[in-house]
Amino acid sequence: MIIEFRLNDRPVSLEASGGESLLHLLRERLGVLSVKEGCGVGECGACTVLLDDRAVNACLVAAGKVRGRRVTTIEGLATEEGLHPLQEGFLQMGAVQCGFCTPGLILAAHSLLQENPAPSREEIVQGLAGNLCRCTGYHDIIRAVKWAAKRMTR
Ligand code: FES
Ligand code: FES
Repeated sequence: MIIEFRLNDRPVSLEASGGESLLHLLRERLGVLSVKEGCGVGECGACTVLLDDRAVNACLVAAGKVRGRRVTTIEGLATEEGLHPLQEGFLQMGAVQCGFCTPGLILAAHSLLQENPAPSREEIVQGLAGNLCRCTGYHDIIRAVKWAAKRMTR
């Protein structure tokens, strides 16, 4: 089947097979390697992307479901003016170590801030509960999201 959707604000049209996941489509067919493959079963959040404005695990979304919709990966957040405040926050707070979880965490945080622009620490922890990080201990990630939230509501 032919699938047409917008990827980071650009139109995409390609043939996909019935059982193909969005993760496979993005990584293997479109070469978007920032979308990481971790567990493959919806438990680690490494493959998080925005579908319209909501964070989803791309490994659990059938490719056919994105037809006519907007998919955003980490490449879609920065603008000509510079990095997105969440990207800036992760850098400022030292919230990136190996970086494997980082694109997914930033996109999950983006989805959280769309719904709740000024989340408490607990709300951030809850909002990012589906995104695992093996390196950082989360402290700096939470500080980064708080930093970005402040910057975005200024
Ligand atoms: S690879 Fe999709 S949630 Fe782990
Ligand atoms: S920075 Fe390494 S898994 Fe999160």
